[in-house]
Amino acid sequence: MASYFRLSKALILLWLTYIVLTQAQSEPWSLLKAPKELALKLIRDPVTLSLASIDYGHIVHDNPFEVFEPSSISDISNLIKFSNSLAIPFTIAPRGQAHSVHGQAMADDGVVVNMTKLNGFRNGGRTVVAIVSDGTGAPYADVGAEQIWIDVLHATLERGLTPLSWTDYLFLSVGGTLSNAGISGQTFRFGPQISNVHELDVVTGKGDIVTCSAKSNSELFYGVLGGLGQFGVITRARIALGPAPTRVKWLHLLYNNFAAFSGDQEYLISFNGRSETNAADYVEGFLMLNQPPLDLSFYPESDRPRITSLVTQYGIIYIIELVKYYDNSSLEHIDEDVQLLVQGLKFVPTFMFEKDVSYEEFLNRVHSDELTLRSQGLWEVPHPWLNLFVPGSRITDFDEVLGYQYYTGGRREMPLGSPTSTDPSPRPSSSSDLQPQPGTISVLPPVIFPQRGTHDTSSRLGILAEPRTPGTTSLG
Ligand SMILES: *[C@@H]1O[C@H](CO)[C@@H](O)[C@H](O)[C@H]1NC(C)=O
Ligand SMILES: *[C@@H]1O[C@H](CO)[C@@H](O)[C@H](O)[C@H]1NC(C)=O
Repeated sequence: MASYFRLSKALILLWLTYIVLTQAQSEPWSLLKAPKELALKLIRDPVTLSLASIDYGHIVHDNPFEVFEPSSISDISNLIKFSNSLAIPFTIAPRGQAHSVHGQAMADDGVVVNMTKLNGFRNGGRTVVAIVSDGTGAPYADVGAEQIWIDVLHATLERGLTPLSWTDYLFLSVGGTLSNAGISGQTFRFGPQISNVHELDVVTGKGDIVTCSAKSNSELFYGVLGGLGQFGVITRARIALGPAPTRVKWLHLLYNNFAAFSGDQEYLISFNGRSETNAADYVEGFLMLNQPPLDLSFYPESDRPRITSLVTQYGIIYIIELVKYYDNSSLEHIDEDVQLLVQGLKFVPTFMFEKDVSYEEFLNRVHSDELTLRSQGLWEVPHPWLNLFVPGSRITDFDEVLGYQYYTGGRREMPLGSPTSTDPSPRPSSSSDLQPQPGTISVLPPVIFPQRGTHDTSSRLGILAEPRTPGTTSLG
């Protein structure tokens, strides 16, 4: 009894200390004086608060004071204006799918805006995409920033159209990837997703609702694209579309030599015109390490033993992942086109593997990995991920560092530290020098894309401090 009493007294003391500290720290309590129409949408129940206190990275925990559930764009505007009216404004963080890896979608003691709640009011659906044509006849889609890319894909495919540039993982929000860069294997031809946007609606830091584009309010437009959420809340994006292919030839080429691998990647991305018919439609690359169990699910059962032997023999196998889109009109010559594309490439002879899948199955390829990882309890775990860009001229050095780590049996720690994982790069000032930001959102590894205006290329490296799946890691 006595000890129980002592314990509860200690708890009360702790609790009191906590309150005093919180009050002294900032003024979140002023949020309790929010105007009634805002107050109704400010949620404080513990379950909602705890949902908003973590992101995909599972590394940072920040507790918001409240979660805001907007049902219109003006709700977001009013929230920002209310914050600005206080002596000490509170922090506001928009949250889409929260695929940030270091707390970027959180607001410690501030307000997290649950952007997903906007779904309900857009004609009541998650997949509302208006497809119209501008003066030049080029199609585009108007998309709520809270929409996720898989839904955008479905809605545009119904009209035989598709966005041109992608992210590897499609269950991310449009506002989320456009606040970063949106990078995948199409980037070398179309640029990142942020280079395929005609117009945005943004709620600014003053709470104004502003439409911006390259021609009007361009500073805001280029600030917000890739702006890591620091220049306003994106609420709508007008996204460039093109005709959708129906099927893809999906290739893996295996290399035992880094120079041959990276040389061939550079060659493949040298056909990079938007309308270049001989070009690949997607190029990425990754590594397979001699650390069983290998993920060989892409390959035919009968080839798996010889792939395993190859990996055992060389320790590291480099893989170019290459895709060529087609449809009924190109059905007759697609095999020939693929042959032309891989002619002269220096992969290990006979180690070229091909799958033929639908366009959607290919774009949504990470989802099946997700389902597998979820079933093994490996999805909601810490993701100490680093994405960085390495100039093509230095990529070989990088391979040597990695190789050293692997061959010495060292743990797969981040070999170069993590200087770029959270710091935004210098801001681009115009569309012509838009460079992808070090992604905090991108899910899967590498891509090589030409940096506009220079003759060098960059490789995006995705590095996992702890490997996600045994036996595979990411380098391109
Ligand atoms: C945001 O809203 C969606 C849709 O209602 C819900 O599924 C999700 O859990 C909410 N997230 C947070 C952090 O409240
Ligand atoms: C393509 O051809 C297949 C088989 O001939 C047919 O079922 C399909 O409807 C065609 N698709 C289009 C878009 O024409």
